[in-house]
Amino acid sequence: MKFVVRNVEADEIHFVQSGPVRFETDVGCLTADEGDFVCIPRAVAYRFAPVNGAMRSLIIESPSPLKLAPPAPFGMINFPRDVKHAQANPEMPPGGPTKMLLKTADGEHTVFRMPHDPLALGAVISENAPVWKLNLTKIQVMTYLPDGGPPTSFLASDAGEILMFNLSSRITNRPPVHVNADFDELVFYVRGPGAWGGCSEPGTLTWVPKGVIHHGPSENVSEGYVAWLLETRATLRWTSEAIAASELMETGEYGTHPSVKK
Ligand SMILES: [Fe+2]
Repeated sequence: MKFVVRNVEADEIHFVQSGPVRFETDVGCLTADEGDFVCIPRAVAYRFAPVNGAMRSLIIESPSPLKLAPPAPFGMINFPRDVKHAQANPEMPPGGPTKMLLKTADGEHTVFRMPHDPLALGAVISENAPVWKLNLTKIQVMTYLPDGGPPTSFLASDAGEILMFNLSSRITNRPPVHVNADFDELVFYVRGPGAWGGCSEPGTLTWVPKGVIHHGPSENVSEGYVAWLLETRATLRWTSEAIAASELMETGEYGTHPSVKK
């Protein structure tokens, strides 16, 4: 990035599908890798870049603040061990002229041209910077034996319009056929070794809009897979670019819809 962004209307979660990715912010720096969620709260300025020239990530923006809110905080997430906060890098050079964008939801950005790099910190006056990372594989999956039951969210927005769940393999019965009245459901298949229904390619994103009847593949895959679920009350609409890159899906095993001609 040749500029710095300060999103003034949304918290952001960056999910890193492949990295490593270096994040520099005005509350410190961190390096994220495959499976990391990185939280950049509203009004924190940042830039990021791949460490080795290539990366893939997905960014979620939420106007309502996002918080780690597991129902069993000491069993589901080990906060002191696994939530890594950004650290100041006093070695960062002051830098030269830098462009900074104040980003708003309507796309009208205010641009500042700063005489120095605004991310070069002089001092840190408190611990636990609000920018953090947490790896998906460190979030425990929950189940209710003997039958399993629905997954449990680990992150939510204050207004309750966004929920995130670890949907990696676990001991459970196959979910019942159901309709989600309140949320669009997006599942991100991160990697195997096992497949999740029709998904076996790392980085596959599936979408079931609210009101669409669906079943969903078994999550009880003995060889294991890593995936997560985003539920949003927003009614999503794909861009033309996303439509061009996607294909219709059946909602039983989440494979390619039979109407799609290969
Ligand atoms: Fe569902």
